[in-house]
Amino acid sequence: GKSGYAHFMLKEIHEQPTALRQGLSGRLDELAGQVTVDELDGLETPTTVQFVACGTSYHAAMFGVETLRTAGIPAQTFLASEYATGPPPIGNETLVVGVTQSGETADTLSALREASARGAETLALTNVVDSTAARECDHVLYIRSGPEIGVAATKTFSSQLVALTLFSAALVDQRGEESRERVAALRALPSDLQYVLDESRTADVVDAYLDSAAYFFIGRGPNYPVALEGALKFKEITYEHAEGFAAGELKHGTLALVTGETPVFAVVTGDDERARKTIGNVKEVEARDAPVIAVTDGVAGVEQYADHVLEIPNTHPQTAPVLANAQLQLVAYHMANRLGRSIDKPRNLAKSVTVE
Ligand code: M6R
Repeated sequence: GKSGYAHFMLKEIHEQPTALRQGLSGRLDELAGQVTVDELDGLETPTTVQFVACGTSYHAAMFGVETLRTAGIPAQTFLASEYATGPPPIGNETLVVGVTQSGETADTLSALREASARGAETLALTNVVDSTAARECDHVLYIRSGPEIGVAATKTFSSQLVALTLFSAALVDQRGEESRERVAALRALPSDLQYVLDESRTADVVDAYLDSAAYFFIGRGPNYPVALEGALKFKEITYEHAEGFAAGELKHGTLALVTGETPVFAVVTGDDERARKTIGNVKEVEARDAPVIAVTDGVAGVEQYADHVLEIPNTHPQTAPVLANAQLQLVAYHMANRLGRSIDKPRNLAKSVTVE
């Protein structure tokens, strides 16, 4: 049942701290300051990684490219439906990773089979034990979210981000301060997320924007997939027009649509060049009268340009996106709820897409 929640989606959003604890259990060695993922023991470090995935899982895969980038492993992500019918060249030590919560998405299975047939080693990153992807791939890494009923993926996305962080860390040398900091941030993540869920002001914020023309979501680096995911979730359950963009890309065309009627959700975390440049992009939309809702850890200093602030604790570059995403999940949920939409079973969509 829904354990007192109005919808499975809301229940699953609130289950995320537990889901993440499950995903981290036995995988953090705090004494050594390292990540240990037993399931990856038999895996040689690949020279390149190709991700194949769809929808929300594709956004998780984009985050995976970013974490592998920081680990020094070149990676690319492909929409599974494109890969299946037009696979890219596969090198000798290319690992193809299928990111699929259900393990049953036809496009993703098809892409993985294509990769396998062309000699690539494959890994399934999935939630469902013994799913087709888990059975067919050479390796499997379970994200351990627990069952997800809502068609809109929520806790499985967060668990995928964490699993991809573990995956990237486990593939490379983990000595040093950087590794310790990551382990500490991952350890704190479930309670940080609990804090975000407890304190979120999203229900009040959405009320100010119930009948806008369109909704834009922007972010840079690891917050770019968060922006895309924020928009996808919003579209799926509110049926309103939303789009996500890399923050720097908006000015290359879509800025033409930005007016006082188009709220912009800006995900800005950390205190680095990316945050500063994203704030520059926020100023561009603010100058076109767009209402700005900043999802931020307060470090970046974006508050002064925002009409509303959705706060997250200041954590770590690889865990901040999980917290920011939770705010955007709640934005979509509360907006859909206020609009009276069918939240757990949005029109035209199925939980598992088994056709190509
Ligand atoms: O089971 P999968 O992770 O392979 O599913 C992929 C997509 O169909 C899925 O993420 C879809 O985009 C969801 N409806 C997102 O909420």
